[in-house]
Amino acid sequence: MCGIVGYIGKKDAYPILIKGLKRLEYRGYDSAGVALLNNTNQLNVYKTKGKVADLEAYASEKDISGCIGIAHTRWATHGEPNSTNAHPHIGASGNIALIHNGIIENYAVLKQSLQEKGVQFRSNTDTEVLVQLIDFIKTDKKVDLLTAVRTALKIVIGAYAIAVIDKTNPDVVIAARKSSPLVVGIGEEEFFLGSDASPIIEYTDKVIYLDDEDIVVIDRNKKDVEIVDFNNEKIEHEIVTVELNLAQIEKGGFPHFMLKEIFEQPDCLMDCMRGRINVEANNVTLSAIIDNKEHLINARRIIIIACGTSWHAGLIGKQLIENFCQIPVEVEYASEFRYSNPVINNQDVVIAISQSGETADTLAAIELAKKKGAFIYGICNAIGSSIPRATHTGSYIHVGPEIGVASTKAFTGQVTVLTMFALALGKERGSVSEEEYVRIIQELNNIPEKMKELLKIGDDVKQISRIFTYAHNFLYLGRGFNYPVALEGALKLKEISYIHAEGYPAAEMKHGPIALIDAEMPVVVIATKNALYEKVVSNIQEIKARKARVIAIVSEGDVTVKNMADATIELPQTEECLEPLLASIPLQMLAYYIAICKGKDVDQPRNLAKSVTVE
Ligand code: M6R
Repeated sequence: MCGIVGYIGKKDAYPILIKGLKRLEYRGYDSAGVALLNNTNQLNVYKTKGKVADLEAYASEKDISGCIGIAHTRWATHGEPNSTNAHPHIGASGNIALIHNGIIENYAVLKQSLQEKGVQFRSNTDTEVLVQLIDFIKTDKKVDLLTAVRTALKIVIGAYAIAVIDKTNPDVVIAARKSSPLVVGIGEEEFFLGSDASPIIEYTDKVIYLDDEDIVVIDRNKKDVEIVDFNNEKIEHEIVTVELNLAQIEKGGFPHFMLKEIFEQPDCLMDCMRGRINVEANNVTLSAIIDNKEHLINARRIIIIACGTSWHAGLIGKQLIENFCQIPVEVEYASEFRYSNPVINNQDVVIAISQSGETADTLAAIELAKKKGAFIYGICNAIGSSIPRATHTGSYIHVGPEIGVASTKAFTGQVTVLTMFALALGKERGSVSEEEYVRIIQELNNIPEKMKELLKIGDDVKQISRIFTYAHNFLYLGRGFNYPVALEGALKLKEISYIHAEGYPAAEMKHGPIALIDAEMPVVVIATKNALYEKVVSNIQEIKARKARVIAIVSEGDVTVKNMADATIELPQTEECLEPLLASIPLQMLAYYIAICKGKDVDQPRNLAKSVTVE
């Protein structure tokens, strides 16, 4: 939620900042801005409503010189998206500019107190309080910028990653974080800041991931950055090498990141399984399970916490773990869990699932579970993000950066890790039979090839999408392992095409939603040949009797459903517990092509942001 980028060095900052903002635009895109210090130490700030391209157009005729600057792409929380509320914000003295990702919770009290001291505010944002406070402290107490920033951060309550420049300190950028991500890039006589490493990797692969309450002072005349805590005590941080390449964060010939990410899934799943699945030895190994056997084998209960798509993966995880490990599993929305009073103790294991590793609700839920003594296992994608650092152990899904706001490859990566987790732990506990263990491992290994074949349905799905583009409501139905797939399919459609869609367990249809069904309501049914096939066929008959059009996802060679449905998409045969990995592909494509037919911005749908770092 909001992307921040900074540069200080010898090059022109503006092109680096704009490129960086474009890489971070997935985090928010309702307004954007940049602050630059030119070589006469004049502070130039340009801000616009809209996307980074709008900012570029606006700034094209302006003075964009200078080797030091900060820039921001916004997802509005406080104050509507417009150029006044866009960041950077400037302090009353006109010297200091600041960008911020997060929320200042006590902004109203602070604003009032500053206003009583005569400070005039320009925007409706919580962020402006921070820059006005820093500016006020610096002027009033006659202290240096670092002291002013430290003092202000001790007063504010909330979540932030900030970067500050000051025209009276033209060689320095100060940045800090608490509960919002911030990475420092270390180049040759130049330094970078980013909400993640994507704006940095083009210039250097050496980075420092800041921790909560770190304040970093970056001086372009010094070789190293200096990191201090709120009490000005020095903190040492390891410089790490990021394993991220440019190809991973570019579209690579695809019109959208979402389509690229859909097509990457076979390779992503191979990366996810590499070194973990050994088909010759019929073995699956997760180092986190081996290293934490006693916690995991003896778990009294597992609670999965997540949001959105990751929560849907968690619902599949529940079925996998209960099947193979015989441990009871509950799946909770992190946002509900964090404010509940859950009965948890040190015999419980909490699995936190998150693509970004930064979701504020999931992080808060982890802290609560930790306090109550649970052992926390993270399943994340973004390497070095906050959740993997807050958990006791975990497994990365290794699907590479996911940039399209609608999650695709992260979902199948999460389900793959959950499958490996359930199999590996089931083996340790002796709760999965050798025959089943080997059979599922062998088939899991076949999934990427089957997915590759399945991805050839693109043109068929495009055709189907054209027919259904004008529907106002969709129902998605599935049972067992495919019920969460129905939920996920509906979420994908809602997110990017703005069509209302509901996911339901197929048999629940008769308990209410059937009242909605008529010729105007397309129903997507996952009707693969598994144990519940006949029951789902009956549901399709009930739908057809009410004149709705049915898009059915069926197993290869199915005739019965094909004869009943208005459109069908065939899936390769696989193990029932692995069907979600295949069944989710046509639903991702359906959502994508319907959104394209409607002319929507699939990578940056309205009102959404990729990582939800605020409550
Ligand atoms: O990064 P996380 O997995 O924690 O994010 C959770 C949700 O915000 C996310 O899955 C969201 O629902 C996606 N936009 C779904 O496509």
